[in-house]
Amino acid sequence: MEFAHQVYQPGRLVTNRRYARGYTPRVHAGVRKKLVSVESLEKVYGSGPTAVRALKGVTLGFSAGEFAAIMGPSGSGKSTLLHILGTLEEPTSGRVVIGETDLSGLSDRELTLLRRARMGFVFQFFNLIPTLTAEENVMLPVLISGEKVVLHEERLDDLLSLVGLEERRGHRPDELSGGEQQRVAIARALIRNPDIVLADEPTGNLDSKTGAGVLDLLRESAARYGQTVVMVTHDPRAAAVADRVIFLADGRVVDEATSPDADEIFERIKTLESAG
Ligand SMILES: Nc1ncnc2c1ncn2[C@@H]1O[C@H](COP(=O)(O)OP(=O)(O)O)[C@@H](O)[C@H]1O
Ligand SMILES: [Mg+2]
Repeated sequence: MEFAHQVYQPGRLVTNRRYARGYTPRVHAGVRKKLVSVESLEKVYGSGPTAVRALKGVTLGFSAGEFAAIMGPSGSGKSTLLHILGTLEEPTSGRVVIGETDLSGLSDRELTLLRRARMGFVFQFFNLIPTLTAEENVMLPVLISGEKVVLHEERLDDLLSLVGLEERRGHRPDELSGGEQQRVAIARALIRNPDIVLADEPTGNLDSKTGAGVLDLLRESAARYGQTVVMVTHDPRAAAVADRVIFLADGRVVDEATSPDADEIFERIKTLESAG
């Protein structure tokens, strides 16, 4: 494979040196139980009379291999929670613990390394680089981390086959359908075998059939690689694919359901939305 667009400076070796010094991002099998937990999370945006309390004391745990959905009315704090889990935003107070690591003790640089090594992100708007082919987009996290592309080529092939895009690996995003682009984005999220996959409305821009394919993929990935998948969605059918659904309202966890069906989820969310 050839990367014509070397704009990401894959040769930047800072990260590699860090690995060489013994930075071990992956948890041991034995401590995989509650892989991610958040305790008493509070998030306040702004200050004074215009301050918004987006999270008001959220405590949750996610196990390795678990596929969890987060639902709630618009503005209930779903994206904020996901961003804090993904270390993209800092909580105002409370803790995020991943494996054995309390994130509040880490520097920005350490957080960046942890994010790159252990997390994969899937967003509603696929955020692919338009000038790169499907396989180059999938490999982007490898390039950014400065790792050798050859070390990941086998996984690239596995993932392209998992997402059903082997035939389209050389296509650019504008030559792919929405569903295919989202599958590229999922393969990109998985390329470095993250422990945690965070997805914000991953089916929000897809028709229901294509969306179902994307959900199957997330499910399959959680099962096959023991990954924790946390997905924000407003679609009860999407949430019904998850092992567990967590309901947020006004910055708080107000309910949880294990393996509920779409009708139950729909009823629950309707009640929450009319209460808000
Ligand atoms: N960067 C921000 N600055 C100010 N307020 C924000 C910011 N991000 C989110 N909020 C507010 O925090 C609350 C929760 O937002 P969000 O987490 O995006 O909710 P959801 O994803 O459930 O729709 C909302 O009231 C929103 O307006
Ligand atoms: Mg949101």
